[in-house]
Amino acid sequence: MAKICSLSYIKRHVIKLTLFIVILCLVLEYLYIMEKFSGTFRVGKVSKDISESLLSSSLTVSTHENTSLLKSEESPIHFFPTQGFTNTHSILKKPTATVFPPAASSSNMHHSSKIYLNCSTWRKPLHNVSALSSQITLAPDRFLYPGLIWGPNNQVIGLFQSIYVAIRLNRTLVVPLFQTHNTQGKIQNVPDYQRIDVDHLCSFVSCISIEDFRKKCSGSMDVVFQAMPSKMRDVKKFQRDTQMHIIMKEEHKLSDNFVGNSLQISASENWLPSNQQVIRSTFNTTAPCALFANAFKPLTLTSMGQIAIPLDKNYTKVRQIKDDRLYMAIVDSVRRPECITQLADAYIDANIGTDEFVAVHWRYDKNDWLRVFRGLKKYELCEVVTNITPEDVARAIINNLPLLHDKNEMHSQNISAAVSVYIATPPSLKEFKLEIFNHLENLDPRIKRVSLDLDVYLSKSVFNKCWNSTGWVSLPDILSLIEMEIMRKSKYFFYSYESTWSENIRPLRWKRSEGKIQRLFEASILDLSKTVMKKRKKRN
Ligand SMILES: *[C@@H]1O[C@H](CO)[C@@H](O)[C@H](O)[C@H]1NC(C)=O
Ligand SMILES: *[C@@H]1O[C@H](CO)[C@@H](O)[C@H](O)[C@H]1NC(C)=O
Ligand SMILES: *[C@@H]1O[C@H](CO)[C@@H](O)[C@H](O)[C@H]1NC(C)=O
Ligand SMILES: *[C@@H]1O[C@H](CO)[C@@H](O)[C@H](O)[C@H]1NC(C)=O
Ligand SMILES: *[C@@H]1O[C@H](CO)[C@@H](O)[C@H](O)[C@H]1NC(C)=O
Ligand SMILES: *[C@@H]1O[C@H](CO)[C@@H](O)[C@H](O)[C@H]1NC(C)=O
Ligand SMILES: *[C@@H]1O[C@H](CO)[C@@H](O)[C@H](O)[C@H]1NC(C)=O
Ligand SMILES: *[C@@H]1O[C@H](CO)[C@@H](O)[C@H](O)[C@H]1NC(C)=O
Ligand SMILES: [Mg+2]
Repeated sequence: MAKICSLSYIKRHVIKLTLFIVILCLVLEYLYIMEKFSGTFRVGKVSKDISESLLSSSLTVSTHENTSLLKSEESPIHFFPTQGFTNTHSILKKPTATVFPPAASSSNMHHSSKIYLNCSTWRKPLHNVSALSSQITLAPDRFLYPGLIWGPNNQVIGLFQSIYVAIRLNRTLVVPLFQTHNTQGKIQNVPDYQRIDVDHLCSFVSCISIEDFRKKCSGSMDVVFQAMPSKMRDVKKFQRDTQMHIIMKEEHKLSDNFVGNSLQISASENWLPSNQQVIRSTFNTTAPCALFANAFKPLTLTSMGQIAIPLDKNYTKVRQIKDDRLYMAIVDSVRRPECITQLADAYIDANIGTDEFVAVHWRYDKNDWLRVFRGLKKYELCEVVTNITPEDVARAIINNLPLLHDKNEMHSQNISAAVSVYIATPPSLKEFKLEIFNHLENLDPRIKRVSLDLDVYLSKSVFNKCWNSTGWVSLPDILSLIEMEIMRKSKYFFYSYESTWSENIRPLRWKRSEGKIQRLFEASILDLSKTVMKKRKKRN
């Protein structure tokens, strides 16, 4: 691993990169010449100004499109948008405010301490989601299928973004398939009810199941909306998932290369402004059955630094809801399944016994986590993560836990009582976690580790037979989902910066206090540990 952090490693990569760029330029030059001669192969120009490019680029809609629900076998497939543009202000804002104006809506906590022992909440409800009445009603004859990608929490973010696009385009949301994490070996599909509370989502926004989608669209999709440049391979996966056909009239254009004349954006770039006019003109088609391919983070909207709050019950004019506000209601609408929240409650009751506990997410498993970073950023993060010891992490927690220092916090607590700490890490960091616990307990005798591992607890739990008998695909998924709920319910949360797992919990951690909505305590464990590590190195 030290090799990854070394500068010579970076230098080698810079040389490789330079070579690559030179070759790429030559290829592009060649293509450009080809285009001049043949006029068929288009490489879209990258525009610096979004609004300008949107106004000037007439996004092509084929005149042959068939908008009837029963489509003819010849209906061609269209890709939207057909030209790319970049966004120059996609830099994420740092979280700042912690107090928000009150909203007159239901509590954010699923407070049901009731434990069902009969597996009823584990079974897929025979839901007829289209029959649920939802807060936001969308057109019942147009649909958007979210084509989700990558890890479980990337899929959740992709779902947030798909819901937003579905609402702004006024298309009923198809509740999609999810998939397991690639660290679990072969990627398997995961049905909706094993990842999210489907009823909760569909009481917020109109949805239908994949089965109903297939029926209503007569087994085929009309149009592909690209969230990212889409390859034939990606589209084929979504065809298999939905068991629906996408008729490829121009199949030769969709080899396993990026779609010939499609988006000129890089993967995971936030290129799509949230403005509803822009979204409607970008994906301007009346074709009923749409695939939103490779949904991750195309939108400039993000949940970072925000709080997820449902809409007031009396909201009617959806078009007037501000983009950020709508997005926060969307984040609130995507929750873990009810059986998962119940199991988290049961675990907390049995092993912690109070809501006033500390939760820590340490994501920094170098092999998996560092994979997504490149260049100097990777080098810097690698340096930091490699140099931080379990003792640094323990000191960071103790130095920054208000409960141990803040007089007001102490007053509301029993100072001599134990403070329970739960630590969530990827399985590969189990040793690191145990060492943090040892240091925590040595440094402050009030600290008490939550020692019964969740997997051990689960293996003995009565629920064991529930997920076994109701077709749950992945036990690691169950563990991860329950841990997310434990983090959400904690009073003090030390989260991992640059982790979508942490990112998807933070907006849900708030409480109502004196008529105001207040974020629960949170702090970046990497930043705090880095400070401790730097001080230690200075002393030595
Ligand atoms: C669309 O498809 C339907 C059913 O196949 C057909 O009746 C109709 O004529 C088509 N419309 C157009 C504009 O091609
Ligand atoms: C919705 O209800 C809240 C209070 O519950 C009120 O402040 C707000 O004005 C209402 N909005 C509309 C559009 O009626
Ligand atoms: C399981 O428990 C729930 C909640 O107590 C109840 O509504 C449901 O009818 C029970 N199902 C069976 C099959 O006993
Ligand atoms: C689902 O609900 C819709 C709308 O209420 C209804 O038309 C349809 O028959 C229902 N389907 C099933 C299988 O219950
Ligand atoms: C969507 O369109 C339907 C008509 O098909 C309309 O009743 C509804 O208000 C629209 N919803 C939104 C959110 O625009
Ligand atoms: C969609 O395209 C049609 C026809 O080209 C055009 O009249 C309409 O204004 C467009 N709508 C949007 C929202 O851009
Ligand atoms: C405070 O906690 C200690 C240790 O758990 C316990 O012995 C003591 O009774 C508690 N005091 C109060 C006032 O709750
Ligand atoms: C789970 O189900 C399989 C068969 O589907 C069975 O072989 C196994 O013993 C079950 N495990 C538990 C813990 O119930
Ligand atoms: Mg991830």
